[in-house]
Amino acid sequence: MENFKKNDTFEAEVIDLTHEGQGVVKINRFPFFVDNALPGERIKMRVLKVGKSFGFGRVDEFLSQSEHRISGINLDYLRTGIADFGHLAYSEQLKFKQKQVSELLRKTAGKVEFPVLPVLAAEQTLAYRNKAQVPVQMVDGLLTTGFYRKNSHTLVPVEDFYIQDKALDAIILFIRDECRQMAVQAYDEKSRKGWLRHIVVRRAYHTGEVMVTLVVTNKKAPVPIKVLVNKLAAQFSNLKSVQLNINKGTGSFILGKEFVVLYGQDFISDTMLDKTFQISAPAFYQVNTAQAEKLYQTAYDFAQLLPTDVVIDAYSGIGTIGLGMADRVAKVYGMEVIASAVENAQHNAQLNHIENAHYEVGTAETIMPKWLAEGISPDLIFVDPPRKGLDESFIESATEANPRAIIYISCNPATFARDVVRFEAQGYQLEKVQPVDLFPQTHHVETVALFTRKK
Ligand code: SAH
Ligand code: NI
Repeated sequence: MENFKKNDTFEAEVIDLTHEGQGVVKINRFPFFVDNALPGERIKMRVLKVGKSFGFGRVDEFLSQSEHRISGINLDYLRTGIADFGHLAYSEQLKFKQKQVSELLRKTAGKVEFPVLPVLAAEQTLAYRNKAQVPVQMVDGLLTTGFYRKNSHTLVPVEDFYIQDKALDAIILFIRDECRQMAVQAYDEKSRKGWLRHIVVRRAYHTGEVMVTLVVTNKKAPVPIKVLVNKLAAQFSNLKSVQLNINKGTGSFILGKEFVVLYGQDFISDTMLDKTFQISAPAFYQVNTAQAEKLYQTAYDFAQLLPTDVVIDAYSGIGTIGLGMADRVAKVYGMEVIASAVENAQHNAQLNHIENAHYEVGTAETIMPKWLAEGISPDLIFVDPPRKGLDESFIESATEANPRAIIYISCNPATFARDVVRFEAQGYQLEKVQPVDLFPQTHHVETVALFTRKK
């Protein structure tokens, strides 16, 4: 092996893209990962760091550029990962995501040439996020909002978040400026001093209702916080909720357990597929509402719902998936681990005059076998787990329940591909895979898949 040193330079061609959007360059078969470099581009690369089996480099100079490059993108969006695919043409982002799902199915699940459907594109590819979650730090003595540089907690100041609703940007800047005026101190991770840690804002896509959560270290505000709240309410007429969230922890969790309502309610309402949903601050809610509606619609289409169907909605959150189809099936059972999300789901059923939905708090892996033992016999099981995918014991009890089909919504194609192998071992066959682009300009991939019982 060659001895690469920091600051060595090479001329090379970028041959691939990592799943997080870095260019791959090989020098004598040794791979380097390079920010802001696209396949097909020739670059002069400078070595930044060398490890045992790979290194990192940066572009010193472009010798040629890709026809798919979007020029003029603010490099902070790549550095922070806010838009780690922002330099790549949208149609190419979609092709890359489709290829990534196919590759994972091939490598992990041995599915050669599985016909992964073309990714369902978003109409709105910028300013689509309905939620902002912004860290706050003192930068040169000034309270500053922005985003962390990738793999660090170094704040890059950002005012225009590019992929989030512009109204969210405006609210965050308003809060930042008011906090500067009142001399609010941002929390400092090293000294553990300061008060404000994060600003979290949600704005419902269809109703425009706004919820602000200030994540702070102590419920006793060091400044007259009511003044800020009143100014916010005067400025933003759709403001429905302002809360403090108390986080005294040192870990990287954004939210603590305790909330204090300062203004209005502890939820906002939005509509999805013509149903109304109340959303509380700790509950999950898809950040791209328009595309999430397409995602859920695809899931229902795959399932071929029948009026006699008993359906399980596992990882149900505030009930969006189950309640969205409740009037087309006989019965919906949902389970979810966050208690306040389950309260939302139960309330959301009532709001929409749905009487055939039942929700329980608990993990999917404990509730699923319990329901089986109680004699619940589902025709369809929908699963929508977080990034780590499904628990193996859940797959066993779900397949033991012997549903006609299992519809798997995944935000991580790697764990999805792993779970495909487990479902097939339990007698279920992968029929269809449809990626839906919920996260334009970023590397994230959402997919919905249909499994049916093998004959
Ligand atoms: N289906 C909902 C939520 C999907 S996000 C929607 O579309 O909005 C995944 C959800 O799984 C989150 O609400 C999370 O709180 C929940 N969750 C995480 N681990 C879980 C587990 N082991 N069992 C049940 N729910 C879990
Ligand atoms: Ni990733």
